[in-house]
Amino acid sequence: MYQQIKLPYSFSSFVPMLSEKSLKNHYESHYIRYLKQLNQLLANQNFSFSYGPALLYRNIDAFPIVIRDDLLFQAGGVLNHELYFQSISPKRIEVPEPLKSRLVEKFGGVGQFEDRFFSLAEELPGSGYTFLAVNASGDLILLNLANQDSPYMFGMTPILAFDVWEHSYYLDYLNHRAEYLENMIPFLNYHHINQLYEQVLKEQKKAT
Ligand SMILES: [Fe+2]
Repeated sequence: MYQQIKLPYSFSSFVPMLSEKSLKNHYESHYIRYLKQLNQLLANQNFSFSYGPALLYRNIDAFPIVIRDDLLFQAGGVLNHELYFQSISPKRIEVPEPLKSRLVEKFGGVGQFEDRFFSLAEELPGSGYTFLAVNASGDLILLNLANQDSPYMFGMTPILAFDVWEHSYYLDYLNHRAEYLENMIPFLNYHHINQLYEQVLKEQKKAT
């Protein structure tokens, strides 16, 4: 069975930007529910849990067609939430290299990147996530995906996920998504994002 990740901070770490109740509910009621449902679906298929949920995308053909949509939805619910919780940090973090240079090259600067990120997240219709992902050529791609879709579906590796489902901010901001974004985007965990970026580049280099 897949295990839940531990948060590298307490539920109250983001007060007053995000209340303890909001983060606790998000982690315990939403993320854990996806994890249980994914484990249950896979256990029903006698899955051996020999690889992590990110590899389910590559191996989806091994599962009966009637459960694939549900499987990808639950897998996305697990992976997207895990990455979201790891993409934020209670401390403001400067962007390390090599990510910083790539953001400057691609978006004109870290501030410009955050502005683009904000606009994209603000305009996402309905529920979903704003991602920063690395494509097969090692390029950084900023994109929105609906519901629990994942960049893995399109051959990209997500390195930052930002949850804009209303459940992630409603208790604190009602339906005012822009305020949630304004308050939380300054707390992106660039250390973790950069770590994943380096890891993807390394794996891509090894594969060539
Ligand atoms: Fe969520």
